[in-house]
Amino acid sequence: MATTRVRGLPHFAVGTVVKGFGRGSKELGIPTANFPEHVVEELPDEITTGIYYGWAKVDDGPTFKMVMSIGWNPYYNNKKKSMETHIMHVFKEDFYGSELKVVMLGYIRPEKNFKSLEELITAIHNDISESDKQLLQAQHLHYKQHPFFTEKSGAQCNGVISNGVVTNVHGKENGLANGNIEQNS
Ligand SMILES: Cc1cc2nc3c(=O)[nH]c(=O)nc-3n(C[C@H](O)[C@H](O)[C@H](O)COP(=O)(O)O)c2cc1C
Repeated sequence: MATTRVRGLPHFAVGTVVKGFGRGSKELGIPTANFPEHVVEELPDEITTGIYYGWAKVDDGPTFKMVMSIGWNPYYNNKKKSMETHIMHVFKEDFYGSELKVVMLGYIRPEKNFKSLEELITAIHNDISESDKQLLQAQHLHYKQHPFFTEKSGAQCNGVISNGVVTNVHGKENGLANGNIEQNS
């Protein structure tokens, strides 16, 4: 399975899970975890809105597959850009306030508007299948064991790591303690 290399990826992000509109669980049956605004604002310019796949970890839990939607949710016409992660695991409880770590590895499609809720739900289920398949590839699989997920570092808290550089909320750059994050070429 061939994958196209996307500029700005891999992108590592960390933040506290905040409340969205709550439609993901209720209307769609597909819960999503929302990042706070500062994590969204720190996305590099080359990462366009759309649907991405990668890995996610909540607090000290295991690392799971994820699909993420970045943008304004055209179906709902949101006023604020969001980064919503659907973790491919059934959680027993909400985890607002927990620390969410993600690495985005690949792009699936742009955000779209749909004629009905059913079409949106079908599209998201297709994204989940696509992510499931893509993440089995060796080049994506090894990120599951990346030091970003397996080792603790204060510098990674509430910040964004991109292309091997950790940027915290104040925009300072910190070397990553075990920084063997791949550089984009
Ligand atoms: C994989 C994935 C793909 C999505 N694709 C779209 C899309 O194409 N268009 C759209 O309007 N919303 C899309 N969404 C966003 C959902 O509409 C959103 O998760 C839902 O509104 C719940 O938001 P809330 O948690 O803020 O309530 C997608 C979400 C996910 C997880």
